[in-house]
Amino acid sequence: MKKHPLVKKVIISKKQINKKIKELAKSIEKYYYDEHQDLNQNTVLCLGLLKGSVPFMAKFIEQLTKLECQTEYMSVASFEGNIEATGVPRITADSNVDFSDRDVLIVEDIIDSGRTLKLIKEYLFGKGAKSVKICTIFDKKEGRKVDLHADWYGFDVPHKFLIGFGLDYQERLRNLPYVAIADEDKIKNWQWKKLK
Ligand code: IMP
Ligand code: MG
Repeated sequence: MKKHPLVKKVIISKKQINKKIKELAKSIEKYYYDEHQDLNQNTVLCLGLLKGSVPFMAKFIEQLTKLECQTEYMSVASFEGNIEATGVPRITADSNVDFSDRDVLIVEDIIDSGRTLKLIKEYLFGKGAKSVKICTIFDKKEGRKVDLHADWYGFDVPHKFLIGFGLDYQERLRNLPYVAIADEDKIKNWQWKKLK
């Protein structure tokens, strides 16, 4: 497949991603369905953070075969189009679902500093959630600034700026079917133009 010019190195292929999502879904079903059968409404509430989690959420839920699931979304801003988080994340679009007494599974693209998910976890418990678990497809553990860990993660990734499979640069490149380290030298003078 032709690589996007901003790709320095593909680190995880589409095939590897798909395989991992199947494994994650299996282990999450085992946890909720086989081991914790006291789910409120027998349903897990999958909460995706827009927009990065969309490709992961889409593939993840189709792998759930035993578990009833509901999908909801919220929007949190932290990067604002840059390649580094600007600091304090904030909720830019809330969900109007009633989280009280619900079993929430946060479905996320990547954990870096951990600030976004720490905020969302506290927010959900504040709304009365019965349980809050985290599943992220990518985990940038070296970037961690706060005490926050995923209950399930797909891949450990390097502490570099990544693009693809939901991860964006200036709201583009979320559509790449693989995950790549971005070419930071090219990014410095990058102009969006017609791809050759
Ligand atoms: P955290 O609050 O620092 O954990 O940041 C989490 C959010 O930052 C993720 O949900 C992503 O939207 C974004 N993010 C973190 N690392 C990257 C990256 O390498 N590329 C693109 N977005 C990223
Ligand atoms: Mg995100």
